Amino acid sequence: MCVASLVQASADGTGDDASPVFGVRIPAGYRDWQLISVAHEAGGLNDLRAMLGNDIAVRAFRDGTRPFPDGAIIARIAWRYEPSAENNAVFGQDQSFVAGAPTNIQFSVKDSTRYASTGGWGFGQFEAGRANLSEALMNTCSPCHARAPRDNDFVFTRYAR
Ligand code: HEC
Repeated sequence: MCVASLVQASADGTGDDASPVFGVRIPAGYRDWQLISVAHEAGGLNDLRAMLGNDIAVRAFRDGTRPFPDGAIIARIAWRYEPSAENNAVFGQDQSFVAGAPTNIQFSVKDSTRYASTGGWGFGQFEAGRANLSEALMNTCSPCHARAPRDNDFVFTRYAR
């Protein structure tokens, strides 16, 4: 990356590791958070994804507490959805799909004061550990999440028991 873009990145208050618009950073230790649920997107995304929550988020999912309390963070991590030749050889037929290369990670961070204008949620997306710096992308998160079921506080995922 050239020096000019580094200067520009810090001048507007969004370093390379903070998402534009919301200033969300990758939370320490998120990879060790508890599993909330999983999903598979077909089509262009063609991924396998896991939703993880910090302690505040997981407790709220389990207890059904809505709106989510401030401090709740939900991580969505994803990998390419790939057939496993290795596993299929064991099964003797094509049936196994596994996590391939990681694609990107997303976070929803609850702070009802700071993010009041977006339903109390701030958003971030990261690729290979770096924030995606597209403001246009960040501005897509909240309008779509506003379409999640009203009783689930702008969150699509339900806790998988
Ligand atoms: C077009 C609609 C749409 C857009 C735009 C969108 N999301 Fe989502 N998001 C979903 C849906 C649907 C799910 C649940 C299914 C899934 O994960 O595929 C989801 C799941 C999530 C989750 C897991 C928690 C939850 O709400 O279920 C996080 C975190 C998340 N999105 C973050 C983001 C971020 C960050 C952005 C913007 C960069 C974003 N999303 C943009 C539709 C959207």
